[in-house]
Amino acid sequence: LAAKRRELASRYQLAFRLTGIATGSHGHAINPAGIDPKRALRRIESGKSIARLHVGDPVLDTLDFIRRRPAQILFEITPLDPIKGQPALDHIRTALEHKIHVITANKGPPALAYRELRELARKQQCHFRFEGTVMDGAPVFNLVEKTLPASRVLGFYGILNATSNFVLTEMEKGRSFRRALKRAQAMGIAEADPSYDIDGWDAAAKTAVLANVLLGVQIRPSRVDRKGIGAVAAEDLEKASRKGRVLRLIARVSRRGGRTVARVAPELIRQDHPLAQVRGTSSALVLETDTMKELIVTEMEGTVEQTAYALLSDVLTVAQSLS
Ligand SMILES: NC(=O)c1ccc[n+]([C@@H]2O[C@H](COP(=O)([O-])OP(=O)(O)OC[C@H]3O[C@@H](n4cnc5c(N)ncnc54)[C@H](OP(=O)(O)O)[C@@H]3O)[C@@H](O)[C@H]2O)c1
Repeated sequence: LAAKRRELASRYQLAFRLTGIATGSHGHAINPAGIDPKRALRRIESGKSIARLHVGDPVLDTLDFIRRRPAQILFEITPLDPIKGQPALDHIRTALEHKIHVITANKGPPALAYRELRELARKQQCHFRFEGTVMDGAPVFNLVEKTLPASRVLGFYGILNATSNFVLTEMEKGRSFRRALKRAQAMGIAEADPSYDIDGWDAAAKTAVLANVLLGVQIRPSRVDRKGIGAVAAEDLEKASRKGRVLRLIARVSRRGGRTVARVAPELIRQDHPLAQVRGTSSALVLETDTMKELIVTEMEGTVEQTAYALLSDVLTVAQSLS
């Protein structure tokens, strides 16, 4: 938002004010006149609470924060919980019940309760948007919603977890599993609990979101047949290479005889397949459609900046519908 402030004003006549920040362990702050994000960041980075920036009665907890907010939009970006979706699920329900638009990059809620949240948002005449849940700001949901009219998505497969892909491609260069994972954590791309990346949970949650939204089915992350990269050894990658293949963590959903089959597992990919070129923190999704056959969306070397762009692109969708 800060980087695009001028462009938002000149191209979209849009101004914004940050009126509240909730954290897990650094307090809460509400100020209808606006909070300076740099000041808040400085306090958090030096381990201090942001409660000093708060104006009014003390905030009890994040749900109290959401109920009392003077804002039109809530950004829900708490850590992923692929089993229960909490606390994000309660945050989003509370916001929608109070007629606040919700934009999230957290896969848990749309993976576990997409239909419920979509219906609640519709009833409350609010937006529930989640472009950042899969491949950061690369258009996936927006691509299908806005640019593929009268098309049906029949299935998909892709490399959806940047941390696993980074670890596998670093191991191809001779780095150890542990060192590669540490680097991914230092880059800020790993989940707060990195086992969610390595054990395939993050990819399973994204698989569930894609299947629920694009195929109209109801799959929970725990129902995705899931195998992570924890057991992959350097020898497996060398063996794959000798056979003209690469090993990648692939998320895959297909329909078989009216049944939806969802799977996340390391797969051998031919070296001349586009997915074999997806290295490091890059990710790619192949959409199988009834109109365009296979369409590939690739995000090259994603960072947290691209996740921020996902939230921004959703803001514009919300703002344009309000004007
Ligand atoms: N990082 C990425 O590249 C990326 C990409 C796409 C999607 N996502 C998704 O975005 C979300 C956030 O990721 P992240 O990497 O930014 O995680 P993170 O660095 O762990 O940050 C999580 C934030 O949530 C706050 N929080 C925790 N519990 C809270 C609560 N009950 N109420 C209010 N705030 C609470 C934490 O505050 P404290 O620090 O004070 O505890 C922290 O500020 C995750 O769901 C992730 O899957 C991340």
